[in-house]
Amino acid sequence: MLKPFKKSLPSHLLKLSSAILKILLDLLWFRIYNYVSEEPLGRSKRGEMSREKIFHLLEKYRQCHILQHSQRLDSEKRNDFLKELKKLDLSLAFELHDKFSKDKNSARSFKNIGAAPVIIMPGTPQEKTRREEARVLGESLIRKNQVAVLIVAGGQGSRLGISGPKGKFPVSPVKKKSLFQLFAESVKSLSIRYRAMIPLLIMSSEENGEETRRFFEFNNYFGLDGDYIYFFDQEMLPTLTPDGHLILRDDTHLLVNPDGHGGSLKALHESGLLESLTRKGFSELFFCQVDNPLVKIADPVFIGHHRMEGSEFSTKVVRRRDLEEKVGIYGLVDGKPAVVEYSDFLPEEYRALDEKGSILHWPGNIAVHVISLSFIQRLNLRGFALPYHLAVKDVEVLLPDGKGKKMTGWKFETFVFDAIPFARKTCCLEVIREEEFAPVKNPKGSDSPETARAALSNLHRSWLKEAGAELAPKAQVEISPLCAMDKKDLIKKLKGQKLVISEDTYIDDSMVFRYEIASLLSQ
Ligand code: UD1
Repeated sequence: MLKPFKKSLPSHLLKLSSAILKILLDLLWFRIYNYVSEEPLGRSKRGEMSREKIFHLLEKYRQCHILQHSQRLDSEKRNDFLKELKKLDLSLAFELHDKFSKDKNSARSFKNIGAAPVIIMPGTPQEKTRREEARVLGESLIRKNQVAVLIVAGGQGSRLGISGPKGKFPVSPVKKKSLFQLFAESVKSLSIRYRAMIPLLIMSSEENGEETRRFFEFNNYFGLDGDYIYFFDQEMLPTLTPDGHLILRDDTHLLVNPDGHGGSLKALHESGLLESLTRKGFSELFFCQVDNPLVKIADPVFIGHHRMEGSEFSTKVVRRRDLEEKVGIYGLVDGKPAVVEYSDFLPEEYRALDEKGSILHWPGNIAVHVISLSFIQRLNLRGFALPYHLAVKDVEVLLPDGKGKKMTGWKFETFVFDAIPFARKTCCLEVIREEEFAPVKNPKGSDSPETARAALSNLHRSWLKEAGAELAPKAQVEISPLCAMDKKDLIKKLKGQKLVISEDTYIDDSMVFRYEIASLLSQ
């Protein structure tokens, strides 16, 4: 007996042909939808994609679920949704997905990372003189209004387990000042010290930008001239499923993620800020992450070394705490300086020791840089030069029934230190961890609010001791950046008075003044 034709096909062929048929039908539906949709979409802004281009892309990358979703929305919501799509660089995300799917081994695994030149902590008189010369040069650049400060604060703060801007986190040991307040007060203090204009640039993202701006506004910009604070948002990129599909966050939004702190160098250019700073005569950008309350904002020694070396991109490093500490390493890759993330090392190489038993790859990147503005311009000359990395992360999406669902998402990000190999000249400066690096990354344990508060208090205790103060062993102290930015400042402020500190104490100008009066009266 003749079997019906259908049954004679092997089952996998049947499945394949029905899948192809489904794709063809989806594509056909797509075309029809695209053709007949009469939704007014407004005028395209410069740089945004037209509706036609979006549909074409969605078609090309088989994102039928997105158009089907949009078809189900009422016209107002559909417009909102399409406006959101227009803002995103969908093609970049799809191209990156293609690239990373083809290249399954794209996770970098560097071997034989060499030692790059680092200006180590000064030991000899010549080295000390060199640092002093660098300080003088750096100070003169600040005085001449050539230095701006950028804080990258667009990240999602997911590891710390907080929602909203990380910069609002109350970090200081006594007053519980926020990270943003500490940075803003440092900028103000430096502006006064050097009688300089030091623009403060804050990069946020679509997720936390509004709240960041409101926080500054509510706090009167922490005493800074509002005209010298610039807020700008980094770009958001769609998060994709591992098989390349866009993910809906809710009815009118896709799931997106900030494009990494390297995106600051792109956003500076695209926002016009780079051009405006250059036009005003600024030439160097002091860069730091929002998570480190110990950052020496616009450190003149660092800026001076950057200029003395003719560097375009400079990096500060500390000696790695131990073999386990997860930091990027400053080293030589293919003969060029670079920062290599700990996750891109072979484990045995990351833990390697030298012949004396010390950590071989010791220079830990603390994510504090000086970057020349002309270099940032060059990075943007023919499109944006930095490469993208893939981060595979758990993401939460909203299902139509309102319930959340965890799934794996592919995020694409750039890292600012990937600019190093593009620079004609670079510079790397070793600094002391206890003075400059205590990041807030985790809710508990190492690199947590607790360790950062202890580090700030210990640093300020050490200044006070040098200034001759008597301190109860457990007293936490905090010195306002507006009172003293360093040990020298404090010694000068105290004018030889011997402070006695028996309990947790916040030191600002008014406290120093009160102390002065009290000691005068007691004489
Ligand atoms: C980072 C560095 C690492 C360095 C360490 C020092 C990377 C990939 N690695 O690690 O080499 O040793 O800091 O503390 O950066 N951010 C944005 N936008 C984004 C993503 C991040 O502004 O899209 C900001 C965050 O707000 C945060 C900072 O960048 O301030 C750090 O980002 P994170 O991803 O936490 O890097 P780390 O793993 O801490």
